[in-house]
Amino acid sequence: MCGIVGYLGKKNTKEILLEGLKELEYRGYDSAGIAILSDNNFSSFKAVGKLVNLEDKTKDFVTDKFAVGIGHTRWATHGKPTELNAHPHVGSSSYVVHNGIIENYAELKKELQEKGVHFLSQTDTEVIVHLFEEKLKKSADAFEAFKETISELEGAYAILLVTKGEDERIFFAKNGSPMLVGINTENEKYFASSDTPLIGHCSDVNYFEDGDYGYVTPEKIVIFDKNDTQREPIFTKLSTNKLSAQKDGYRFFMEKEIYEQSDVIVDTLLGRLSENEIILDEIDSSLFDGINEIKLCACGTSYHSALTASYMFERYSKVKTSVEVASEFRYREPIMTKDTLFVVISQSGETADTLETLKMAKNAGLKTLVICNVDNSSMVRIADASILTRAGIEKGVASTKAFATQVVVFWMLSLYVAKLRNTLDAQEIAKQIALLREVPRSVKVEDSMHERIKRLSKRYLHGHGFFFIGRDLFYPLALEGALKLKEISYLHAEGYPSGEMKHGPIALADPELFTIALLPEHLLYEKSKSNVEELSARDATICAISPLVFDKADDYIQTQPQSHYMLEFFEMMVVVQILSLEISVRLGNDVDMPRNLAKSVTVE
Ligand code: G6P
Repeated sequence: MCGIVGYLGKKNTKEILLEGLKELEYRGYDSAGIAILSDNNFSSFKAVGKLVNLEDKTKDFVTDKFAVGIGHTRWATHGKPTELNAHPHVGSSSYVVHNGIIENYAELKKELQEKGVHFLSQTDTEVIVHLFEEKLKKSADAFEAFKETISELEGAYAILLVTKGEDERIFFAKNGSPMLVGINTENEKYFASSDTPLIGHCSDVNYFEDGDYGYVTPEKIVIFDKNDTQREPIFTKLSTNKLSAQKDGYRFFMEKEIYEQSDVIVDTLLGRLSENEIILDEIDSSLFDGINEIKLCACGTSYHSALTASYMFERYSKVKTSVEVASEFRYREPIMTKDTLFVVISQSGETADTLETLKMAKNAGLKTLVICNVDNSSMVRIADASILTRAGIEKGVASTKAFATQVVVFWMLSLYVAKLRNTLDAQEIAKQIALLREVPRSVKVEDSMHERIKRLSKRYLHGHGFFFIGRDLFYPLALEGALKLKEISYLHAEGYPSGEMKHGPIALADPELFTIALLPEHLLYEKSKSNVEELSARDATICAISPLVFDKADDYIQTQPQSHYMLEFFEMMVVVQILSLEISVRLGNDVDMPRNLAKSVTVE
């Protein structure tokens, strides 16, 4: 997703900004830009695509004296990835970079346009610079104008702004999107949206809090908090180890990625929800013309999100849906009819088996769609249409945030089709859209919950196997929970439909058989409970995950009461991810790079 850098000092500003942006490349982006103010003169460069394009454009540009500069890598949300939409955005004499979303930008833009302001881009960000310049017309003090600007913004942001006539100041504001400032003994100031670009340049850093705003000069950092009270920076020592810095203080990438789910889901939803409809700019509704069936095909975790999707497509969109494991589909001489929409799901977009099924479907003349996390990957290039999950780079081999965002995309897509086909009424669609907005909250990891799971995990390090059980949508979640545990703990685990346990697996029940039971309040609670009671009666060790107290369980992880089973789904997803993580940690395994596994499997 988007990245921000800023620099104030005497060194080679251009190089520092470009190097900083390089460190943020892993977040994914589709355009980039920088603006530098030196001797009261601005120089700005933008380029679509990779940073090398920006490097090319700036190759003859030299910065060898004091300057202030800002830079940005953009992952398109409001408006396509074009040069005009790339940051920094310009007014008449100021530049701004921004991460996040200005929710009230449409109103602000309208007001500014009525005053005769001309907009160049389709972004929400551009309102910031124009609003600032409008305020500046009435105020002699640039900081006062900046402060007034910030007070009118709603939404999430990390902002850096530079303006002519203030060529020793960078203005900043942070609310909801991460940003920090670093210092060293040379009176330089470095900004970034994560700490990696600062490593090697700064000794100490201050992480801004939500609501902070202010400015830096060579001599000082002036910070005001959300109550407009000036506060001193709180410095912490900056790590010198890039890898550990990328983990943002978490022990493992997987842990970081679990905690990141709330933020990345915000990105997944960005610009795709209105009050009563799902907006998927990247697909045309004609994709569904003449379609009587959806076939989903994937491997591993992506297969589990596909299974989850099949419940939603049939329940909400009323379209017959089938799900296939890609490696099976390839060789079983499947019947492919042209009234089927063939959908592949892949975090990487490169998994060989899945890619091959996509080619098969294309050759058979089917319409194809890919749900993918990596733009320009092989699958995105080949499929007729694609929807990106926007999870950012996932480093842990055991997939977490990619799964979460896939399910969110499928939920949106099933509502999109429901609207097209009139299979849900407008009120129900609006209700579910409101629920989608709650998903980021439902996946926030509470410290108390993590601590509880950590304590509990010590009881689950042995035994002769795990059964993760659930019904309906919670069955694919059970499969995913079992896969997570297998992948990183090397313990044997299976996902099973709760109602199917009595047809065989219950023979295994004894105290050394661990059952992780998913018991959502709002979906088949009584039925699932009876299934768990059958196991409990046979002395299996039960760990129940539920918002409702379940006294037949040996262990119990209580989730928050939620208003809908989909929110319970997302919360329980986090619980099973953390349970696997903590068991693996106790067993001393390599959480991020488990034995025998690869992140992207490009062989069949
Ligand atoms: C590998 C990874 C899994 C992943 C699967 C499919 O097996 O270890 O985590 O779910 O590939 O990957 P894809 O990139 O296609 O989603």
